[in-house]
Amino acid sequence: MTAETSFDSAQRFILAAKGFWTTQLYTNLREQYGERCAAQGVEPTTVPQVAAVAEDLTVYRYFAWLERHLQIAKYSGRYGLAHYYREHADEVLKDLDGAAGQSSNLELDPALRMPSYYVATDIHQHPGGVWSEPTAGLVYQHGARSTTPLLGASHGDLHARFTDKILEGGRPARVLDLACGFGKSTMPFASKLPEASIRGIDLAAPCLKLAASNATKAGLTNVSFAQRDASNPGFADASFDLVTSTMFLHEIPLKVLDRVLDECFRLLEPGGRMVHLDFWHMPDPFTRFLHYGHGRRNNEPYMQPLAELDLPKTLAAKGFVDIRIEPFSETADVDLAAVKAWRFPWTYISARKPA
Ligand SMILES: C[S@@+](CC[C@H](N)C(=O)[O-])C[C@H]1O[C@@H](n2cnc3c(N)ncnc32)[C@H](O)[C@@H]1O
Repeated sequence: MTAETSFDSAQRFILAAKGFWTTQLYTNLREQYGERCAAQGVEPTTVPQVAAVAEDLTVYRYFAWLERHLQIAKYSGRYGLAHYYREHADEVLKDLDGAAGQSSNLELDPALRMPSYYVATDIHQHPGGVWSEPTAGLVYQHGARSTTPLLGASHGDLHARFTDKILEGGRPARVLDLACGFGKSTMPFASKLPEASIRGIDLAAPCLKLAASNATKAGLTNVSFAQRDASNPGFADASFDLVTSTMFLHEIPLKVLDRVLDECFRLLEPGGRMVHLDFWHMPDPFTRFLHYGHGRRNNEPYMQPLAELDLPKTLAAKGFVDIRIEPFSETADVDLAAVKAWRFPWTYISARKPA
């Protein structure tokens, strides 16, 4: 067997194992947790109360161990994504650097300082994070395919569905996508709003190069990407009608979030909208307990602080109005209630700057 097929097999195995973890193991854990609560005559309402019951279950320990170690195996070791792309760097970067060198839709800032919270953690268990190696964007793009597998569902429509929901409220002419990564969250705006100007910013040069190359390949000419810090992006006041982000707010410390929200307010035209897709609305304490555990096991230390923040109060204190915070259904393909699988608590967070 060649190294290539071993890599493919290992990654397919990890994806299948994640599917097992997401569905059967999770369902089993939920059932055993319910039985244990009934046997003890308790109805936990807080995370510590849930932990007192769940952490004693063997199935929970297995669930937690598998969650962490599948993610480590996905990125690290001989058949991990980081190693694979490092080995193939010459070949895969030729295309990317060539496209980045020629494209006018990309502005990099090699002098931009990476914040300390950002360099301190190997986010998602990705060695070196999404920024420190030239191949990091490709690793992240590949890894994102198996973040939350749900057998039978296409996860490809999450960003498109989010964009559609925003556009139900009007068609902005100037859009800023904060922390755009490799452009997966930016591209639907560019394709659905051909008349608009779309900007994506991120700290990670390897991701931005990939975003610019993906946009060029898709023939999208109304979108550009820049290496900027979302807490100090440097655009003029009132430059945008829509400021958005996807899976960003939970990746920053609360004091950085405070600055990001101030910037959203400053950058919006009066009457403009700010809409984020993140993890905040949790229907029950068991979901919250697993979400906090996910943050620890996936190296995402700011998931819990965001989930515990009084978001409506925080947004109102910044001056935002028309605040809407509601669960967001990630797919139309699958009846998630019937599947009873582990899912992220996707939340649609929308607010407006007063007109
Ligand atoms: C989970 S990714 C989301 C990427 C993209 N929005 C998507 O939905 O695929 C979070 C992104 O936040 C970026 N990031 C973290 N802190 C940032 C900051 N202060 N300014 C800009 N980007 C930041 C990371 O580099 C990473 O690309």
